[in-house]
Amino acid sequence: MKSLWGKIPEQIPRLSVLLVILVVLFIVVRSRLVPPDFGKYGHYRASAVDEIISQEIRYAGHEVCAECHDDVVGAKKAGYHKNVACEVCHGPAVAHTEDPGSVELRAPRARRYCPLCHEYRPSRPTGFPQIVSNSHNPMKPCITCHDPHDPKPPVTPKECHACHGAIARTKSLSHHVYVPCTRCHETPDEHKVRPRIVVASKPKTREFCGECHAKDAPSEKSIPRVDLATHGERYVCWQCHYPHLPEAR
Ligand code: HEC
Ligand code: HEC
Ligand code: HEC
Ligand code: HEC
Ligand code: HEC
Ligand code: HEC
Ligand code: HEC
Ligand code: HEC
Repeated sequence: MKSLWGKIPEQIPRLSVLLVILVVLFIVVRSRLVPPDFGKYGHYRASAVDEIISQEIRYAGHEVCAECHDDVVGAKKAGYHKNVACEVCHGPAVAHTEDPGSVELRAPRARRYCPLCHEYRPSRPTGFPQIVSNSHNPMKPCITCHDPHDPKPPVTPKECHACHGAIARTKSLSHHVYVPCTRCHETPDEHKVRPRIVVASKPKTREFCGECHAKDAPSEKSIPRVDLATHGERYVCWQCHYPHLPEAR
């Protein structure tokens, strides 16, 4: 017998003791600490359902509003704020829907409110309409220009220079003054409405500039030429020449 015990590695008895302790602990915890109604319907306390039901309801949902404010609901439905619920801006409204005469809702008319969602933050998704409130038509409340229920797509300028003023001014004094922006940037019309979602292209290769500047390009004679094979051959052209103000220095 003794020799058999001797063969069992010494950690086995210690682990067995630990296992027994754990099993006892598990049984104690289950019987003493888990609430009695746990697991009756599923992996939760059955009484939690009643507790949640007994909580006061504070949000009415937006369908109810249509009963009395169908004009506002209609306006919002088609606009940019269609996915922003009424009560996000006006607060919990159950009491108001039950007794609109005595429970008034507040409307966030102050300028500081809208930037909660629209202030520029680098972390916000590309394309989400953002403004820098310090410089975007300062002082006036946002609702003097934007209808909060139907914030219209802003009237957008048609010309590149309306939004890219600095580049346009630079180019107008450059050797490229007569090269139109769209010769180098394919620009879908939508870019002027949603510039961050629909972007303009940018030249990608040396050959692009070569269409006018390569030795054998079929462009106007007066355009200065370079030999693409040897001229700055390891870099793209705009690493040395700013395309909106190219200079040969
Ligand atoms: C039973 C009818 C009724 C329902 C339902 C109702 N309202 Fe009203 N609401 C009124 C009345 C009446 C007024 C006061 C109208 C007035 O002063 O011109 C009012 C006024 C308001 C105002 C104006 C506050 C201000 O400063 O001018 C807001 C905002 C408003 N309701 C939001 C809501 C929202 C959001 C809902 C849906 C959750 C809703 N209401 C549902 C009847 C209703
Ligand atoms: C983005 C925030 C926002 C959302 C979403 C919003 N509102 Fe408003 N609401 C406002 C602001 C701001 C005003 C004040 C407008 C003013 O004074 O010109 C207002 C005014 C009102 C008024 C009173 C003046 C009026 O235009 O008749 C009512 C009623 C109203 N809202 C109902 C609603 C209902 C119903 C919904 C949902 C369908 C809703 N609002 C969604 C911000 C919001
Ligand atoms: C004096 C009128 C005026 C006021 C006040 C004003 N805006 Fe604007 N807003 C405009 C015009 C015009 C445009 C479109 C041209 C532009 O982008 O500047 C615009 C554009 C926007 C855009 C779209 C930007 C984009 O890149 O798509 C947002 C969002 C916006 N405004 C939010 C606000 C907020 C929030 C406030 C208040 C803090 C506010 N505006 C105050 C006139 C105004
Ligand atoms: C809870 C967040 C939230 C609040 C608060 C909010 N907005 Fe918006 N806003 C949005 C969303 C979401 C859109 C739609 C964005 C999209 O279409 O990608 C939007 C779109 C807009 C646009 C359209 C910009 C464009 O692309 O042409 C304007 C303008 C605007 N909001 C103004 C306001 C004003 C003014 C207020 C304050 C009364 C306000 N917003 C409050 C979430 C919000
Ligand atoms: C309504 C204002 C507006 C108009 C008009 C406009 N743009 Fe833009 N454009 C922008 C904004 C805003 C950006 C910046 C987008 C970003 O940073 O994601 C941009 C970015 C660009 C870019 C850079 C894209 C990139 O990947 O870096 C190019 C190129 C461009 N625009 C060309 C043009 C040309 C060419 C025109 C005229 C045909 C034009 N844009 C008209 C607002 C405008
Ligand atoms: C000769 C070709 C050419 C013309 C003409 C041209 N661009 Fe560009 N543009 C480029 C190139 C190349 C780049 C890329 C530069 C880079 O990646 O560093 C660029 C970049 C841009 C950018 C991105 C931001 C920046 O400054 O790098 C914008 C915005 C832009 N161009 C707008 C315009 C507008 C607006 C016009 C007309 C006023 C215009 N471009 C005319 C070649 C051109
Ligand atoms: C549509 C034809 C065209 C394209 C494409 C073009 N250019 Fe030009 N480029 C010109 C014209 C025209 C001149 C001016 C010639 C003159 O001044 O007589 C010029 C002049 C230049 C000059 C000489 C400036 C000087 O000081 O003499 C450089 C450098 C230059 N371009 C670089 C580029 C680069 C880099 C690209 C690509 C991003 C490019 N160009 C694309 C037409 C073009
Ligand atoms: C490594 C920097 C560099 C790169 C990359 C480069 N260039 Fe140049 N480029 C220069 C310098 C420096 C000059 C002026 C000296 C000279 O003529 O070599 C010049 C001159 C020019 C001139 C004027 C020639 C004349 O006869 O007046 C043109 C046109 C030109 N480059 C176009 C291009 C084009 C197109 C590309 C891309 C295919 C390009 N460059 C790439 C540095 C560069």
